[in-house]
Amino acid sequence: MNMAADGMAVTVRQIGPTFGAEVSGMPIHGDVTPEALMQFVSFLHRYRVLVLPGLALQPADLVAFSRRFGPLEIHSRFENTLPDHREVFCVGNVERDGMKASFSRGVEQWHADSSYREVPSDASLFYGEVVPPEGGDTLFCDATAAYRALDAATRQRIDGLHAIHSLETLRLWGLRHNPDRSGAVDRQATEFPPVRQPLVRVHPATGAKSLYVCPAVISHIEGMAPDESAALLDMLIAHATHPRFVYRHCWQQGDLVMWDNRAVLHTASLFDHARYQRLMYRTTVAGNAPALAD
Ligand code: OGA
Ligand code: MN
Repeated sequence: MNMAADGMAVTVRQIGPTFGAEVSGMPIHGDVTPEALMQFVSFLHRYRVLVLPGLALQPADLVAFSRRFGPLEIHSRFENTLPDHREVFCVGNVERDGMKASFSRGVEQWHADSSYREVPSDASLFYGEVVPPEGGDTLFCDATAAYRALDAATRQRIDGLHAIHSLETLRLWGLRHNPDRSGAVDRQATEFPPVRQPLVRVHPATGAKSLYVCPAVISHIEGMAPDESAALLDMLIAHATHPRFVYRHCWQQGDLVMWDNRAVLHTASLFDHARYQRLMYRTTVAGNAPALAD
């Protein structure tokens, strides 16, 4: 076991059904030894979702810690980033100090972050700055265990398929669920043209296959009629989000959760936005590998 800079042991404890772990003692502020960082990354690869409770992070701390994992994306919805830290994407219903969080009525929308980029994000870090007393949980599904649990015929059917991920598809989905919102994302649809992603992706570090299914972002599966494509996506997402593959994170202020976008899917859930405030800070570690081979 590695010792953090202050001599405290870093410990890990599984909290989800097939994945997900709580990590304690990880130094977030200040120096982290390369060994401690490597150990942390190995925890991420093994557990796919890591929960670090009880932190008191400033945006600059979150950015500095996140950068240890690689360059950070600037979110395509620039208006929802922090003016002083553009790497921080704000999610919720809070507006203050020139910052307006991105608010979406939390209909379940399973996805991995930035799948519409040619090289999607490797990992995201999500910090609970203001959390509602109830609701607003984040749900994760173990897309790796879910793939493994498919029958051989289905695995054979979907291995090698590709899906088209499109911000325009997501924009139309968003308008259906948030009809009062303007079409402010039009610009991004031209900045990020549709991209082709494998439906089953291989994790470059672990070699594990996982389901890469983002129903609201995928316009269709390549070479398939729209009905057939939608039916296959429905079936796969229903399978992957069965409770036996799901970890629900109920937020406490000061929680930091890091997930591996190459191994899990996640979704927001509803909260009473008329009564409560929610503000989450997200940093997004850019993908550092070219799109995966077929
Ligand atoms: C995100 C996201 C989930 C949530 O910001 O990428 O999916 O619970 N958020 O707000
Ligand atoms: Mn997300």
